[in-house]
Amino acid sequence: MQAKEHWEKVYSTKAADAVSWFQTHANISVGLIKDTGVSRDASIIDVGGGASTLVDDLLAEGYTNLTVLDLSAAALAAARVRLGEKAAYVRWIEADVTKANLPGHQFDIWHDRAVFHFLTTPEDRAAYVQAVFRSVKPGGHVIVATFAEDGPDQCSGLPVMRYSPDELHAEFGESFSLLRHQKEAHHTPAGKVQQFVYCYCRIINS
Ligand SMILES: C[S@@+](CC[C@H](N)C(=O)[O-])C[C@H]1O[C@@H](n2cnc3c(N)ncnc32)[C@H](O)[C@@H]1O
Repeated sequence: MQAKEHWEKVYSTKAADAVSWFQTHANISVGLIKDTGVSRDASIIDVGGGASTLVDDLLAEGYTNLTVLDLSAAALAAARVRLGEKAAYVRWIEADVTKANLPGHQFDIWHDRAVFHFLTTPEDRAAYVQAVFRSVKPGGHVIVATFAEDGPDQCSGLPVMRYSPDELHAEFGESFSLLRHQKEAHHTPAGKVQQFVYCYCRIINS
């Protein structure tokens, strides 16, 4: 099954709050985004945001320039329905991040929780890093969360990569400066605990 087919099926057959990665509030992500110190009109993209509640939390915090990108139309539709009228304040992009034609140097913050770890080939990871480098402003902020070294080896039935902070940073390379990392013991709706690692990098101004 193609990746898009897989994700459309997941979001068409499961409630958004029943999937293993569901968070009532994306507290660590919101904290890292606020700690960057960007202004409330900074351009923020949540890549592979799916039906995540992060966008709700960011709107509630007063952020006004938000984009959510995801492979799955069903995931984006679930988020829009939940947000109701507020969905009109968000840009929604249905695309594969490794192939999307994102605008150049557009974003102040790139956020990804649980998407990069699905990229199991060096080619896809290189395309992802190129997309970050191309579409984030020089000096911009990059927050990527994946399963940690002691996290599961599958997510949504698909194989994933697991990373230490240094390994994750190494995927991005020397143009990215690793400023902070943080673990999360995520409690799934089914009661399991999954270890995530969040890396916060800045693109080095050249
Ligand atoms: C495990 S979910 C995480 C969703 C969300 N970030 C969260 O934390 O709740 C992974 C998401 O990545 C999306 N996805 C997977 N591969 C993708 C790709 N190549 N490009 C864009 N989105 C992708 C899926 O549709 C799904 O919504």
